[in-house]
Amino acid sequence: MLTKTRLAPSEGAGLHPIENASRDEIQALQLKRLRWSVAQAYNNVPHYRQAFDAAGVHPDDIRSLADLAKFPFATKETYRQNYPFGLFAVPRDQIVRVHASSGTTGRPTVVGYTAGDISIWADCVARSIYAGGGRPGDIVHIAYGYGLFTGGMGAHYGAERLGCTVVPMSGGQTEKQIQLIDDFQPDVIMVTPSYMLALIEEMKRRGKDPRESSLRIGIFGAEPWTEEMRVQLQGEAGLDAVDIYGLSEIIGPGVGSECVETKDGIHIWEDHFYPEIIDPVTGALLPDGEMGELVLTSLTKEGMPTVRYRTKDLTRLKPGTARSMRRIEKILGRSDDMMIIRGVNVFPSQIEEILLGQPQLAPHYQIVLTKKGPLDEMTVRVEPRDAAIGDIATAIAGFRHAVKTHVGISVGVDVKACGEIERSVGKAKRVVDLRR
Ligand code: DLL
Repeated sequence: MLTKTRLAPSEGAGLHPIENASRDEIQALQLKRLRWSVAQAYNNVPHYRQAFDAAGVHPDDIRSLADLAKFPFATKETYRQNYPFGLFAVPRDQIVRVHASSGTTGRPTVVGYTAGDISIWADCVARSIYAGGGRPGDIVHIAYGYGLFTGGMGAHYGAERLGCTVVPMSGGQTEKQIQLIDDFQPDVIMVTPSYMLALIEEMKRRGKDPRESSLRIGIFGAEPWTEEMRVQLQGEAGLDAVDIYGLSEIIGPGVGSECVETKDGIHIWEDHFYPEIIDPVTGALLPDGEMGELVLTSLTKEGMPTVRYRTKDLTRLKPGTARSMRRIEKILGRSDDMMIIRGVNVFPSQIEEILLGQPQLAPHYQIVLTKKGPLDEMTVRVEPRDAAIGDIATAIAGFRHAVKTHVGISVGVDVKACGEIERSVGKAKRVVDLRR
């Protein structure tokens, strides 16, 4: 039974000793849990049994953590093919909750949790909020969407577990968000970075200085954001901005999170999730430090164990700092989001990084892809930071020059009026592809 190896159902508030345990201790725990998790998948989920049999591997083959690399991957397609409940490892009536991600096409990806899984998830998010600087007694304003998306409820249970007062605002109703922030004086906000920008903008529109708000900490995730965006958010809102990572297939938010004292990447909560980095083309395992696709295996989930899930998120693994658990660098982007413009690979985050270096331009942007004959063209929709700024020609020339120099492509720039670019209330849509 897993119960023996799992942390107490409620970690409670504060730093858990495992977060700073020695690497040997962490790895010993990981191996024990990995063996349990892979067997849980093999013994109870027909998909994993068939896939492992076909690959000629068996849970008993796991004698060291490195043996995991012999096992086949799971992908989004695995979830689609087993829609809706085919990947559950326990009888359906032991699943107390489902979440689903819509995706853009096809069937949604469904995930299921036992009561024990929900508890582990709450522990992971509580740990994340604590790492970000949140403390029991803080008021936490949650502006991630509630519903099938894991953001709202994941954050909610975690903040309650830490002992915070939760404001379950969800996404949208921007004016009301500002009113409640004014009235309730929260210490922490949990929201996508792009929606935080919209909230900052609304505060300013009401004549308020966002730096004067009660918010001390922003726990931002669910979409890629750059170091330049951190500088922007911290400067504009007068708070500490930390990164939280997660995905529904693995559990939701709280697979890992950044520590406020270092702000140097996301510590993966390695006692619950085992990270690997692979070459996205060949699938070969890469050593720590190399850029590649993050692959995650759950170590403690009982309702829906996940073995070697290909996240499509590109990053690298680094040693621990503020915690002994390993970090991933800020996500460069999803391999899906990579654009190939005249032979050059480009991620939206590279454009963001350069755009935010232009103080006259607002941090709101969209990338439009079109075709001119056989050639792809990229145009960046930008806005002046302030309607009062007259001539922004120099800023645009600077931006185009920097993109040409650092990314190696020529981009067009389409200057919109202030407020004209669509604001997100959740995950921002950065790329508009008009090529098809
Ligand atoms: O976005 C879970 C979440 C909610 C994480 C709230 C953090 C905060 P999904 O909708 O399944 O789950 O989307 C997962 O979002 O594979 C990444 O591509 C992206 N993503 C999530 N967090 C980050 C982050 C939630 N901190 C997908 N940085 C993931 C960059 C992120 N990308």
